[in-house]
Amino acid sequence: PRLSEILNLHDFEAVARQVMPEKAWAYYSSAADDEITHRENHTAFHRIWFRPRILRDVTKVDWSTRILGHKSSMPVYITATALGKLGHPDGELNLTRAAAKHGLIQMIPTLASCSFDEIVNAADAGQVLFFQLYVNKDRSITKRIVQHAEGRGIKALFITVDAPQLGRREKDMRQKFDAEDPSEVSKAGQGNVDRSQGAARAISSFIDPALQWADLDWFRSITKMPLILKGVQSWEDALEAYDRGLAGVVLSNHGGRQLDFARSGVEVLVEVVSKLKEKRGLNFPNEKFQLFVDGGVRRATDVIKAVALGATAVGIGRPFLYAYSSYGPDGIDKALQILHEEFEMNMRLLGARTIAEIVPEMVDASNIHTH
Ligand code: FNR
Repeated sequence: PRLSEILNLHDFEAVARQVMPEKAWAYYSSAADDEITHRENHTAFHRIWFRPRILRDVTKVDWSTRILGHKSSMPVYITATALGKLGHPDGELNLTRAAAKHGLIQMIPTLASCSFDEIVNAADAGQVLFFQLYVNKDRSITKRIVQHAEGRGIKALFITVDAPQLGRREKDMRQKFDAEDPSEVSKAGQGNVDRSQGAARAISSFIDPALQWADLDWFRSITKMPLILKGVQSWEDALEAYDRGLAGVVLSNHGGRQLDFARSGVEVLVEVVSKLKEKRGLNFPNEKFQLFVDGGVRRATDVIKAVALGATAVGIGRPFLYAYSSYGPDGIDKALQILHEEFEMNMRLLGARTIAEIVPEMVDASNIHTH
C-alpha cells in the first residue's frame, strides 16, 4: 500500500511483514517462547478504560513534556532496538533524523548497526540522545563505552537488566545469522559471534550474567550520567533502585523477547506507583525518580494511559523499525505524524489540555492487580 493509506502504527507491521527480508522480519518481530508476553503487552492496555472530563475549553491542547529534564514533543521516546540495518541501509540514522525533526529523544542501543559515533554525528547540535548499555563481562570495555558516550554528550544511561541471557526467539533462531555481512552489526557488537542460532544469540554472548546490584556503585564511580535500569518488573526492584539513588526505571519485558509470561510494563506500573507511595511517600510523575514503560505501545491512548498512571514517558520500538523498513525515512516521519494527530484528538476527547492534566482519575485501572 501507498504511505498515504497508512492510518495507524499497526498498519506498518502488516506492510513490513510483506516487504521485509525474511531474516530481518524474523529478528524484529520475534519474541520469546510462545510469545504470550509479546501479545499481552498489547492486550494489557485493553484492561484500562478512560474517565474523560467534559465541557473544558479544549481548543488548544499541548502534549509536549520533559523527560529526565529534557524537552520532548510528546511523552514518547524511541527505545533501543539492535541491528537497525537489517531493515534499511541507513539503519538507526533513520531514527536519529526523525527524532531531530519531531523533537523526540532516541535511545541509542549498544548493538546498533551503525557505529555509535556515526549516530551521534548525524544528530543536530543540541539534540538529546540517551544510551542503552549491555554490560560486558570485560568491564574495561564497558567503562570505555560509557565514558565515550558521556564525552559525546549522551544525557542518560539506560542499563538493560532483563537480559543476563538472551531469551529463546525461535522465529529468529530458525534463520541463520550471517555475521560476515558488515551491514548487520557494527564493531560495537564487541564479542564472539555464534552464527548458528539466529541474530539475537549471535551478537549477545558478551553480556555479563553476573551483573548485580553492588555493581551499580561502580557505574556511579565512572560516570555522572543519570542511571536508569531498563527491564524492571516488580515493585521490589523499583524500590531498591530508588533507595540506591538511581534516576529511574523502565518497566519493561524487552518487548516480550526475554522471559515469557512476564507481565506487561503498564501492569507493573500500577503496583510500582502504589507501593512506592505506600513505602516512601512518593507521588508520580516524580522529577527525582522517573518511571518509564515500554512494550506494546501502538496508540496515543496507550501512552496517555501510562502517563495517567504515573509514567513520565513510554518507549516505542517495533513500530518505528517497521515504518522505516517499509517506507524509509518517510515511513517513520509518517508514524510520528500519526502519533501527534492521535494525541491532539484524544487529549481533546479526554478533556486534558496539558500532560499535567492527564491525572490518575482519568483512568479506571481497577482490572489490574497490585501485589
Ligand atoms: C529490542 N529491545 C532491546 N532492548 C535493549 O535493551 N537492548 C537491545 O539491544 C534491544 N534490541 C531490540 C531489538 C528489537 C528488534 C526489538 C523489537 C526490541 C527491546 C526494546 O528496547 C523495547 O523494550 C521493546 O521493543 C518495546 O516493545 P515494542 O514497542 O517493540 O512493542
